[in-house]
Amino acid sequence: MISIALDGPAGAGKSTVAKNAAKELGFIYVDTGALYRSVGLYFSRNGIGTELNCDIEEILKEINIDLKFINSEQRVFLNGEDVSEAIRTPQASMMASAVSAKPAVRAFLLEMQRKLARENNVLMDGRDIGTVVLPNATLKFFVTASVKERADRRYKELAEKGMDVSYEDVYNDIETRDYNDSHREIAPLKPAEDSIMFDTTGNTLEESVASLLKEIKERIN
Ligand code: DC
Repeated sequence: MISIALDGPAGAGKSTVAKNAAKELGFIYVDTGALYRSVGLYFSRNGIGTELNCDIEEILKEINIDLKFINSEQRVFLNGEDVSEAIRTPQASMMASAVSAKPAVRAFLLEMQRKLARENNVLMDGRDIGTVVLPNATLKFFVTASVKERADRRYKELAEKGMDVSYEDVYNDIETRDYNDSHREIAPLKPAEDSIMFDTTGNTLEESVASLLKEIKERIN
């Protein structure tokens, strides 16, 4: 099986680029952020805030998460409910960032991610795929873009979905999450030693997809 790790900060364009590249390669695209978001959603639905004043391990026992690939599109199910849209709100983003700093949560989601890579050719998108989840991945990329560019993209995406958010909130949210994700003790966001840096600043989606595919095809053929 071929596994390609794609790590990098929020909004670097990883998901759109990876989704398109995976289709072209005939791989499944695994969005691991959706797993953390689903856990976060469950916690917030149970009245728990980002400070996570609760017995995390006990609550994890109540959670069952499933990924299904329908027409090669990933859908995420939380205790049987399709939450693929519900996990996309700014509040769910902040909760995802909070729960993802907890070792118990990371351990809870680890095997599911490894199993997907054992059984499929995958392009897996996350923060610690190359460093922790798939240290032996066939290829590893670290995808970045400037904060401003990432905020512009995320704002546009949310506005297109009709969500009522301010640009300032989106910008601050990205900065806060960058900080949290790269300063947490466990599995912080950082490039694996053997990862290839891939900067999407100033590129159109098509340019990024073409250039990622080129990088991949040069190395796996
Ligand atoms: O990629 P995303 O924005 O959907 O991720 C949501 C949060 O989940 C993000 O703040 C960091 C966390 N995350 C993580 O810690 N490890 C991953 N492999 C994927 C996401």
